[in-house]
Amino acid sequence: MSSLASRWWHDQVVYQIYPRSFADSNGDGIGDLPGITAKLDHLQALGVGIVWLSPVYRSPMADNGYDISDYRDIAPEFGTLADFDALVAALHARGMRLMMDLVVNHCSDRHAWFQQGRQSRDHPWHDHFIWGEPAADGGPPNNPPNNWEACFNGPAWSFNPPTGEYFLHLFSPQQPDLNWRSAALRAEVQDILRFWLARGVDGFRMDVINLIAKPWLADGTLPDAPVVQPGAVQPAFVMVVHGPQLMDHLREMRREVLAQHDLITVGETPLCTPAQAREITDPSTGALDMVFSFEHMDLDSQPGGGKWALKPLHLPDLKAVMQRWQDELGGAHGQGRGWNSLYLGNHDQPRIVSRWGDDGRWRVQSATAWASWLHGQQGTPYIYQGEELGMTNAPLASIDDCRDLESINHHRAAVLAGQNPAEVMRAIRAKGRDNARTPMQWDDSANAGFSTGTPWLPVQTNHREVNAAAARQDPGSVFHHYRQLIALRRQHAVWVFGRTVPLLAAHPHLAAYLRVWHDQRLLVLCNLSGEVQAVDLPAEAWPRQARLQLGNWADVDVAATSAPRSLRPWEARIYLGVGPLDAAPPAHSR
Ligand code: GLC
Ligand code: CA
Repeated sequence: MSSLASRWWHDQVVYQIYPRSFADSNGDGIGDLPGITAKLDHLQALGVGIVWLSPVYRSPMADNGYDISDYRDIAPEFGTLADFDALVAALHARGMRLMMDLVVNHCSDRHAWFQQGRQSRDHPWHDHFIWGEPAADGGPPNNPPNNWEACFNGPAWSFNPPTGEYFLHLFSPQQPDLNWRSAALRAEVQDILRFWLARGVDGFRMDVINLIAKPWLADGTLPDAPVVQPGAVQPAFVMVVHGPQLMDHLREMRREVLAQHDLITVGETPLCTPAQAREITDPSTGALDMVFSFEHMDLDSQPGGGKWALKPLHLPDLKAVMQRWQDELGGAHGQGRGWNSLYLGNHDQPRIVSRWGDDGRWRVQSATAWASWLHGQQGTPYIYQGEELGMTNAPLASIDDCRDLESINHHRAAVLAGQNPAEVMRAIRAKGRDNARTPMQWDDSANAGFSTGTPWLPVQTNHREVNAAAARQDPGSVFHHYRQLIALRRQHAVWVFGRTVPLLAAHPHLAAYLRVWHDQRLLVLCNLSGEVQAVDLPAEAWPRQARLQLGNWADVDVAATSAPRSLRPWEARIYLGVGPLDAAPPAHSR
C-alpha cells in the first residue's frame, strides 16, 4: 500500500470471534469450529484480513474457555484439531489470517499441571503455580497469605489441603495463576506457542499479559494491596500490573519464539499506561505489536468504584483519553513509537450501540457514527462479532438470564452485602458480559440461523430486523458502513500512518480530528448525540480539495467546498483532501 517499511497487518482490520456464540453446525446450541468455517463468506464480504479467535482449547468452561485444561487440544464442543486445521486452511485460502487467544496468566484447575502439582510440594509441577503460607491469625480457609481480591469476587487465594498452602487465582478459583518465575513453566509456554505456529496460526492475542510478573518481596511473600474498600479483601491488579520481570518474560518469549515468525501480536493489558504500552510495543526493544488499553472503557464507571459503579460518559473525557494514546503511541510518523489498537467492544464489554449510542430510533446512525470515529484513528481496529450489524445489549430480565460467572458472583455478593437488587441488576444490564455473548444474528429465522437446537444463551428478540442477511442486502446498513471503513483504510496511507490532530476537544457532543500525512489530510467529523449540532470548525482544519469519502446519512453534498455548518443526529462524515506539505496545523480546542 505504501513505500513505508510497513508490517503486513498495518492496513488490516481484525475481527473477533467468540466461538461459543458465532455459529453452531451440529445443533447442540453451542457455536463451533465447523460453524465458523461455514461463515467465512460473511467475513470476506466485510473485508477483514485477520480473525482473532477467543479460546477454543479444551476447557471445563468455568469462564467460557479462558480456563484451559489442555493447551494442545480443542474443546470437544468446539470440534477437533482436524476442524481447527480446516479453519486455518480455509482462512488462508481466502487470504485471511488467524490470531489465537493465548491464556497463560492462569490455566484451569482441571489442567494436569494443577491436578498433580497440588498434591505435593515436591511434585515438579507444584512450582508451575503461586503458593502462599497461611497467615498467622485464624485458620484455613480463613487466613490467606495476603488481602488480595479475585477479579470474579472473594479472596484471590484458596486453600489447598494436600499441601497446607494457599494458591493464587486473580480470577476465579477455577483459574489458578501460573508462576512465571519458573523457567520450566516459561519453556512450556514457548512450546505451546510453537505447537500452534506449526499448525499455521499467524499471531496471538495474549490474555491479561501484563499480570504475569508478580512483584515478590525479599522475604518471598507477596505484598498486601492498599485498603480502598470496606471488607477483608482489596483489588489486587494494582499490585501485579507491569511487574518488575514483565519485560524480561516478554522479551524472552519474543527472542525464543515470536521473532522467528512474521506475526501480529496484541497483549490485553488492564491498567496499562501509555508509557508502559510504549515499552511493551517498542519495535526494537519491546515484545508485542500492540496492547489493548482499558482507559477509555473505564470512563463510564466511578473512579475506583469498579465496573459496576455506573457513571454517564462525558464525551470530552473520552476524546482526551483517546488523543493521549494517539499522541503517545501513534507518533509523528506512526513508526518507531509503538502502535495503537482501537476497539469499542469485545466479549467482555457491553454492545457499543446500547452503551454510548442509541439502540432504538438511531440504532443504525449511532452504530455507524461510533464506528467512523473509531476507525478514523491511528492504530489497528478490532471489530467484535455482531458489532458490524449494530447488535444490541441483551434484555437480561433477571439474574436467571445471565450465564457469566462474573455477573452471577457479583449479584450474589452485592445482594448479600445489602445492595438494592434492582440497582445491582441495572448495573449488570448495563455492563454485564452476557450482553455481548448472545448468539450472532445471521437471518430472521428461528434462533437467527445460529443453531437448529436450543442456544446456550437466548437469541435476541430483535433478530428479525437486525441480522446479517438483511444487512448485506441494505446498502445503508451498519454492515456496509463497516465494509467501506475497512476498504478505505487500505487505499490511503494517511489513514494508516497519519498523525492525529484533535479538533473541538471540549465540545460535549461533537468529536472531530484531522489526520496528517505528508500532504494528505483526512478529516473525521462526528455528531455523537441525537440532536442536530452546529459545527464551528477552525478554517485551517478544512482540507483543500476535500471530498467526502464516507457518510452515514443519505443526501450529503459530496462536492462541498467548505465544512458543513451542522451535523444531523449521529451524523458522521469523513473527508479526504490535501494540505501544505508536512506542515502540521495547530491543535484546537473549542
Ligand atoms: C480476560 C478475558 C476475559 C477473561 C479474563 C480471565 O480479561 O478477556 O474474558 O474472563 O481475562 O481470563
Ligand atoms: Ca455445536
